[in-house]
Amino acid sequence: MKIALLGLGNVGRGVWKILETNKEEVSERSGYDIEVAKILVRDVAKNRGFEVPEELLTSDPEEVFNDDSIRIIVEVMGGVDPAYDYMMRAIRSKKHVVTANKFAIATVGDELIAEARKNGVMLYYEASVAGGIPIINGLNESLTANKIEEIIGIINGTTNYILTKMTYENCSFESALKEAQDMGYAEADPTADVDAYDALYKIRILTSLGFGVNYDVDNIYREGIRNIQSVDIEYAKKFGYVIKLLGIAKENNGGLEIRVHPAMIPERHPLANVNDSFNAIFIKGNAIGDLMMYGRGAGDLPTGSSVVADIISILRKDIDNYTAPRAINVKKPLLLKSMDETETDYYIRLKIKDIPGVLGQVSTILGQHDVSISSMIQKGQGHEWVSLVFVTHKTLEGKLNTAMEEIKSLSFVEEVSNIIRVEKL
Ligand code: NAP
Ligand code: HSE
Repeated sequence: MKIALLGLGNVGRGVWKILETNKEEVSERSGYDIEVAKILVRDVAKNRGFEVPEELLTSDPEEVFNDDSIRIIVEVMGGVDPAYDYMMRAIRSKKHVVTANKFAIATVGDELIAEARKNGVMLYYEASVAGGIPIINGLNESLTANKIEEIIGIINGTTNYILTKMTYENCSFESALKEAQDMGYAEADPTADVDAYDALYKIRILTSLGFGVNYDVDNIYREGIRNIQSVDIEYAKKFGYVIKLLGIAKENNGGLEIRVHPAMIPERHPLANVNDSFNAIFIKGNAIGDLMMYGRGAGDLPTGSSVVADIISILRKDIDNYTAPRAINVKKPLLLKSMDETETDYYIRLKIKDIPGVLGQVSTILGQHDVSISSMIQKGQGHEWVSLVFVTHKTLEGKLNTAMEEIKSLSFVEEVSNIIRVEKL
């Protein structure tokens, strides 16, 4: 069985290594001896740090697409352009496609899936969410008896690695990011990780599988981890929380909340103990109850594991007697809730002038907007500027925002240093 790889970076290397190391197992389980016939890269002369026959490498896509003996295209190059065109071209040439590309699946995946159906080929994308965790297959196969009520996940390995290093090793943001890049966890442009685009794409994919609805990624709330400072991590510890970047999709009074942002979560919740590049997805189903899948969310071999499993699945499904895959997004009338309608607890850190009566004024404004305070810490007494930190009870985000606008304009408030949602889970 001849296949081609589009890309030989972190994930491509993992796929190559698994096909070499687990050759026998892959052959037994798929029923085929798999041969990588071509590998498309940008730079054939690049030192890849491992042995790969020179004649397999090409920078000319025609060498891949004009070879009719290649039956499966494995797209592990990333980005939409030219990955989308290459996948479309493969599909239209009746080649099956496996991809790890969450950006493409979340933004142009519907078109790719429709074209795959039309052409009678399979398009698998297990590695696009949470690296080595079989979450796509889980939602597509094992959990289909459930009505999914909630999906909450730590679905970006790079930011989880950074937050873990900042929380437990006092590492700076920059040095932790550099380490994540060196380990092969980060996207080619790490902005995708740090500013939560990667997690946004992943929650969009999980939402379509779990809830059967597709929303444009531009309509989904996204906030990255750039504003998280070590002082927030320290306050979180004092309140009994840990800060994680979460992807959240949950049904709420007939509507759907989908959002990606850093959140404080109780330190005893299983998600709080998901560290380093590990990912975990917590699912509530009306039959299964609570379920958590945990594993490596990034890196060459874990991600390669999902890619190779997809190749095996295609071969097992009898590559020549294809039947259309189940529909993954049967639209349901679940309306996307606005962030103003979101209800959580909030952590608020203010920098204020330490003069009598300020606490009263701030809490009065919060109270006037139905925001009730659950805990408060004031730090730095005797200095001109001090930190005032609150955790609120559950409140509507719209009301909190209005209150914060008023608080911001008070003469003794230097800045609203940070606001972080607190998910009680
Ligand atoms: P990467 O290390 O940057 O590798 C990209 C590979 O694609 C390189 O080999 C590069 O060639 C090749 N390439 C890029 N653009 C190309 C073009 N226009 N023409 C030909 N070749 C091109 O990326 P990666 O980390 O392996 O990620 C690949 C995909 O997997 C992305 O969609 C990513 O989101 C996804 N993913 C990554 C991980 C992870 O842990 N890294 C986990 C899950 C999913 P050269 O080597 O010659 O530059
Ligand atoms: N850059 C991604 C992450 C790779 O850090 O999770 C896995 O999708």
